[in-house]
Amino acid sequence: MSTQALLKQLYETPEENIIEQVHALKEELGDQLLILGHHYQREEVIKFADIAGDSLKLAQRASETNASYIIFCGVHFMAETADILTSDDQVVILPDPAAGCSMADMADIEQVSRCWQELSKVLSPESSVTPVTYINSTAALKAFCGEHGGVVCTSSNAQKVLEWSWANREKVLFFPDQHLGENTALAMGVPEHEMIVWDPTQHLGGNSPEEISDAKLILWKGFCSVHQLFRAEHADTMRKNYPGIQILAHPECSREVCETADFTGSTEAIIQHVTRAETGSKFAIATELNLVNRLRIQFPEKPIWFLSPMVCMCSTMFRTDPQHLCASLFAIRNRGQLNQISVPANQRRWARLSLERMLNLA
Ligand code: 13P
Ligand code: SF4
Repeated sequence: MSTQALLKQLYETPEENIIEQVHALKEELGDQLLILGHHYQREEVIKFADIAGDSLKLAQRASETNASYIIFCGVHFMAETADILTSDDQVVILPDPAAGCSMADMADIEQVSRCWQELSKVLSPESSVTPVTYINSTAALKAFCGEHGGVVCTSSNAQKVLEWSWANREKVLFFPDQHLGENTALAMGVPEHEMIVWDPTQHLGGNSPEEISDAKLILWKGFCSVHQLFRAEHADTMRKNYPGIQILAHPECSREVCETADFTGSTEAIIQHVTRAETGSKFAIATELNLVNRLRIQFPEKPIWFLSPMVCMCSTMFRTDPQHLCASLFAIRNRGQLNQISVPANQRRWARLSLERMLNLA
């Protein structure tokens, strides 16, 4: 049966039967299967994850597992990362292959290669610029970093990665998320005038040769459309309505939101912060809605609000539902059509190097 036909059948099946089937198939597949789930996954999916985590934790766990099949409940770049970090005989599956990341799509290998060439008209990038890619990027960009002395970072370790990068070369080209790069550098005390933004649609990214020569950090003009919906005014309103409330923000938010926040950190760091807080602590959180709702249920003694009055959900993370998960499990058991994510061999070697440089910094 084709995946489409199987999914059609599963959507006509009552949800409680799907849940039962997922439990049974998971049990049957045993140790040969590992399900990884990002914190932004919906509750009906994350409850089946053997490991729930942020991008860093999930990459670390993928690099350690011996499971033959890894189902990645997350988005495309995460499954690619898992494939790069596992051996050739391990299979990585993305339940819905259309689960991408709009931020990762904001920088492609042609644009970044062009940027590198343009930089070489002004300076010698191979000796003076460390390319740093946020893990939210294609395997081709991770390979680019591996080949050019660069490294991958996540929102958990961006500071450590930038320290390493500047220790090696005087400048950093950071892509694709402007905000993670900017917020991390500001927190490290890098002055604003030492950062420039690179707009890939413009010659020299829209900068003069002098501006490029003087910059310590070149920030790609990319963003997460979910995290850009939060505003500093939302924090003002929360503080007015709930005195004593703490604002927690993900570093993909704008500079204004991170500057007003009491704490900025990755999804894992936000969870740790709430977990460790005293009973009665109040929080307004600026990150994806599924995670915030889960924290709200998990910690009823610590009132939690979503920072924005609008619903900010990651629609691609939401694509993975119990039906797609169930279809992936059936495909493994019946040796059917798998949505396997397989990074081409010519990208694997260099992409793995840039990921290993990051993992070795932990
Ligand atoms: P972390 O998993 O590093 O917290 O990043 C969140 C995110 O936006 C993943 O796409
Ligand atoms: Fe990409 Fe933003 Fe969704 Fe994360 S939350 S997967 S960065 S679009």
